[in-house]
Amino acid sequence: MSIRIFQDLDDLSLGAAEFFTMLSKECIAAKGKFSVALGGGNTPRRLHECLADVPYVHYVDWSKVHVYWGDERFVPPDDPASNEGMARETLLSKVGIDPANVFPMYRPGSADEAAAAYDQLLREHFPGDHTFDLVILGLGEDCHTASLFPGDDAALESSAWALHTHSPAGVVDRITTTPACLKRSREMVFLVSGAEKAGPADAALSGKPCPAGYVAKAHGAARWFVDRAAAANLKQ
Ligand code: 6PG
Repeated sequence: MSIRIFQDLDDLSLGAAEFFTMLSKECIAAKGKFSVALGGGNTPRRLHECLADVPYVHYVDWSKVHVYWGDERFVPPDDPASNEGMARETLLSKVGIDPANVFPMYRPGSADEAAAAYDQLLREHFPGDHTFDLVILGLGEDCHTASLFPGDDAALESSAWALHTHSPAGVVDRITTTPACLKRSREMVFLVSGAEKAGPADAALSGKPCPAGYVAKAHGAARWFVDRAAAANLKQ
């Protein structure tokens, strides 16, 4: 596990764009594609804006990028709460992504059916040892990550790769990848910004039982991109 501390969200997002770009070049050179699970919530917005702007928009071969999500609010993409909708608005509509390489979690029908379909899609797309080349995760104030919430068995899931979970706030029905799927990512990056994340960041990084800490520990080499405000409680 590694921790990089940045001045602020802008600085953190540029650092994450550098890492995204470097890793995409490596993966595309090695195997002709780069599979990334985008993060949800608000923090990744700035990263998306950086990637959709010069120089990164030209550094990444977007035609070889395959896009997944780590989690989704179970609403259609035109709903303001949709992680897919946010990614399409801030990134995917601005870069040369092949629509055939975008794999949303939301589909009409029930959340259980959508979760089962995504679990199957992931297993078909990633038959080997690894799932995503990169998964981008956030951190909630209750130390949740993706849509793995404290007190929910899904946060410890060791077999299913995608589940229907329930959020205690906001959109209740969620689709989320699980620790069993996330730990198989080649690279895992947490983006953590803001003073309100200082407590959960310290909890997750000091090994207190919580979904984000569990997911990071299960992966074993998670990278934490944290701004100074969110790093305020970290023991240096
Ligand atoms: C979601 C997320 C969730 C998010 C955290 C942090 O769909 O909401 O994936 O895990 O990353 O809640 O959200 P913010 O970046 O908005 O603080």
